[in-house]
Amino acid sequence: MASETFKVAVLPGDGIGPEVMAEALKVLDAIEKKYDVQFERRHANVGGAGIDLEGKALPQTTIDICKAADAILFGSVGGPKWESLPPDEQPERGALLPLRKIFGLFCNLRPAIIFPALTGSSTLKESVIEGGFNLLVVRELTGGIYFAEPKGIETVDGVRRGFDTMLYTEPEIERITRVAFDIARKRASKVCSIDKANVLSTSVLWRQVVERVAKEYPDVALSHMYVDNAAMQLVRWPKQFDVLLCGNMFGDIISDEAAMLTGSLGMLPSASLAEGSFGMYEPSGGSAPDIAGQGIANPIAQILSASMMLRYSFGMQQAADAVDAAVEKVLDQGYRTGDIYQGTSGETRVNTVEMGDAIVAAL
Ligand code: NAI
Ligand code: MG
Repeated sequence: MASETFKVAVLPGDGIGPEVMAEALKVLDAIEKKYDVQFERRHANVGGAGIDLEGKALPQTTIDICKAADAILFGSVGGPKWESLPPDEQPERGALLPLRKIFGLFCNLRPAIIFPALTGSSTLKESVIEGGFNLLVVRELTGGIYFAEPKGIETVDGVRRGFDTMLYTEPEIERITRVAFDIARKRASKVCSIDKANVLSTSVLWRQVVERVAKEYPDVALSHMYVDNAAMQLVRWPKQFDVLLCGNMFGDIISDEAAMLTGSLGMLPSASLAEGSFGMYEPSGGSAPDIAGQGIANPIAQILSASMMLRYSFGMQQAADAVDAAVEKVLDQGYRTGDIYQGTSGETRVNTVEMGDAIVAAL
């Protein structure tokens, strides 16, 4: 018997989801062999698979399995088959939003990593990203302008107007700030807090709270940046960043920008964390219906999602580092799935299973 056991709810979903999930599970098998740990896995249907097999994108049995777990490993959901359903019943809206709500997933982690071997796939000049970069956007996910009331469209004196409310409470800011600083300690110990404190009151408060919390982390370097400048700095010199701390809307935009700099969606994991250690881990991309069923999808985003699960929910830094290093090694060795294959010498084109096998071998 392993000395530690973690319960993982495995939700492969649709399209390439099950294909890449199988590879991530192989990596978990390898981690079990290498470390004194056991992952108790329970599979559940979600998204289109949930609709087809149990009548709902997020069936109650799936919710129960997730509630009994220490973390959720999620594939991806959606596809043309379910696109004619009413919006709230569709795979993505019907599963992801309720999961965020049920589990209080207030913190979204989106790393943007460019591995040294893949700098050619970025839209940025080689000289800017030489040697790769690794930054992490920490985005507040359940507050801010996307959720605050009042919001709406109304007519006043014959003129239509739309309005939203930007609102953050001090506890909301403090909670996400602590996550960012705790994570920075496990990385390069730098936090850049993104706001618009020259214009927005929420940002003035944001900055005050971040400053106060930062005093408890003297070992972490804090800087502040206006969001417009941050958008610019990301394309100018991404290597200056370690952790970027953002409210909901700024984080939405900045994380998409950062992801695109890497040039390969099939490589990027993400995590959504609740208070405590519970989290949901999934690739940044979708179910890729255009390549589903062909066995050619890149499993790295799913494998790195499993690595984030080890790091953030299970406290297994060493194992997570080992998975990340194994991914970097196979890329250095030239293994490429179609999405990252550039046809240069030294590259070996592989399919989903071969990429998974290579990563397990490197482990
Ligand atoms: P997508 O991310 O599925 O695909 C965009 C492009 O990236 C496609 O060309 C796809 O082949 C490629 N790609 C994505 N992941 C890849 C991987 N691992 N390996 C190789 N290539 C990969 O986004 P799209 O096409 O906008 O959406 C497709 C479906 O996925 C839709 O039904 C959408 O609703 C759903 N979706 C689900 C998400 C989730 O489950 N969290 C997130 C985004 C979209
Ligand atoms: Mg977005």
